[in-house]
Amino acid sequence: MTLISTTPMLEKAKQDMHGIVAFNVHSFDSIFWVLEAAAELKSPVILQTTVSTVKSLGTKNIVQIAKAASEHYHIPTGLHLDHCTDFEVIKEAIQAGYTSVMIDASMYPFEENVEKTKEVMNLAKSLGVNVEAELGKVGGVEDDIVVAEEDAQKAVPEECKQFVELTGVLTLAPAIGTAHGIYKGKPEIDFERIAQIAQLVDVPLVLHGGSAIPDEDVHRCVSLGMAKVNVSTELKNAYSEAIRKHFEDESESLDPRAYLQKAKEAAKEMAKSKIRMVGSEGKVVPSFV
Ligand code: 13P
Repeated sequence: MTLISTTPMLEKAKQDMHGIVAFNVHSFDSIFWVLEAAAELKSPVILQTTVSTVKSLGTKNIVQIAKAASEHYHIPTGLHLDHCTDFEVIKEAIQAGYTSVMIDASMYPFEENVEKTKEVMNLAKSLGVNVEAELGKVGGVEDDIVVAEEDAQKAVPEECKQFVELTGVLTLAPAIGTAHGIYKGKPEIDFERIAQIAQLVDVPLVLHGGSAIPDEDVHRCVSLGMAKVNVSTELKNAYSEAIRKHFEDESESLDPRAYLQKAKEAAKEMAKSKIRMVGSEGKVVPSFV
């Protein structure tokens, strides 16, 4: 088992009405414990890195580690570049072996978003690499991309249809009311809008801002066609909180193996709860292996 394109994974998930979690990983060890969690639940999974993570760890290193981990745990694994605005970084990731990339040109007018997405499609498609694009603007903070609450904009269903037709993009992330990070109140997800978009486009949809959304809301999103569910903040927080607690409880215990083990266990439990939430437990199918 090595890294596979997210295209068949997401199409199969959409057809079978379950989701696949795309976990943002921020370190090499997190690649291993996300896959360990997925392996324990026999679930396909997507690892994703933001541009800052790529810059701190290096695309080639990330690909090598992700390949080694997916072989070790024997789990169908996609490797995705999250929210990238820079064509050169996308090219580098594809050349290094990423199996999926997101061109985020949602901050530009529709026509420019179409052009930038087409440029990435031209590079990626013949190589079997999945391409994700965003329409509307997802609020909150993800890496260097900051969208204030008042600037968040929901995707227009008719534009989603046009966008997929014009670009041939393989996965679409429409803004539908979720935001990156932890919500102040209950997220106001526009289910009606998701249903309208799903009626007009065939490609799997992506739910950004998957942290801290009530399980029943995620189930509803998945049942409406959101096959990829992105989770970053809650995973990162579970890991870091466990380290904080370790030092609160045992401030003199400085062996990294002690606190990293606790962090890993906490993050793995969080990852497993998200995998169960999207219904992908036990969904490793023979055609993927
Ligand atoms: P959260 O940080 O809210 O989980 O969002 C993750 C995400 O959508 C990454 O693109």
